[in-house]
Amino acid sequence: MSADVRIYEVGPRDGLQNEATPIPTEAKLRFIELVADAGMREIEATSFVSPRAIPQLADADELMARLDRRPGVRYPVLVPNRRGLERAEAARADAVCVFTAASEAFTAHNINMSIAESIEAFAPVVATARERGWWSRGYVSTAFGCPYQGEVDEAAVADVATRLLALGVDEVSISDTIGVAGPADVRRVVGALLAAGIGTDRLAMHFHDTRGTALANVTAALELGIRCFDASTGGTGGCPYAPGAAGNLATEDLVYLLEREGLRHGVDLDRLLVAARHVSDTLGRPLGTKVGQAGGWRLP
Ligand code: COA
Ligand code: ZN
Repeated sequence: MSADVRIYEVGPRDGLQNEATPIPTEAKLRFIELVADAGMREIEATSFVSPRAIPQLADADELMARLDRRPGVRYPVLVPNRRGLERAEAARADAVCVFTAASEAFTAHNINMSIAESIEAFAPVVATARERGWWSRGYVSTAFGCPYQGEVDEAAVADVATRLLALGVDEVSISDTIGVAGPADVRRVVGALLAAGIGTDRLAMHFHDTRGTALANVTAALELGIRCFDASTGGTGGCPYAPGAAGNLATEDLVYLLEREGLRHGVDLDRLLVAARHVSDTLGRPLGTKVGQAGGWRLP
């Protein structure tokens, strides 16, 4: 199994979309620069969704216009429909994410569509992305549990992931939106995905640390051969349509674990902590992540 792990930073999008305090565009741009300075090569920048659905990211057009794009760094954006695609094109995005879920109740609340309707809505988005040579990803939210429906069948996760990949997305991100999974659930769900013929190179895992199980879940996924993980610097995150969802797995906690596992990730932890502190300063609250508080570990 490969020793190289991709860390996909979701802080500027998943991390900030649910914050109550308005965050200036300037502070978001600085955050993105700081995580790029730390070595992050995939930074989900914002969402071209309805500003009424996610007011915190209503500045997406301005943010993308002002973004200092570094060579070799990918800045994906969320796109739910044609309108979002037009905005993404105008913003010169070259990496897009579509998002649906493994439970009908969640897609109804989050994007006002059934799962089938969402796949239909994404087809032209992904087709255009492919024509333009853009990278694309599909999210499967609530893959481990739904705030409205409860337990989610792994067969539903494999089915939605298969349909997204059939549209032509480069990878699917299997998301524990409300942070309820444990390692046995990871083995069960990833097992179903692999049994459905999906390769580990097409899979990313997206854990929330709501109940403190995110790193244990990463370890289980690593053992199954998964090599891409979503994380949020500073550990912020949640979805307004997923009541009870708390922070994403913190990037600094993930980096520390990967370091101890002897895996390569390309991120400088000290520099990443500068970005984490910028988030906590911007939000006006102390950094709540484990490694954010303790720092890395080396002799003085
Ligand atoms: N960008 C900007 N505005 C958009 C838009 C987009 N991509 N898509 C729709 N809108 C606007 C419409 O113009 C319309 O505005 P109006 O009421 O002022 O005329 C309004 O949003 C409703 O549009 P409609 O097509 O009826 O969509 P909807 O109300 O069924 O909502 C979504 C569907 C997908 C647009 C909306 O639910 C959404 O953006 N959800 C995103 C949720 C999210 O990001 N969750 C977190 C990520 S997991
Ligand atoms: Zn999330």
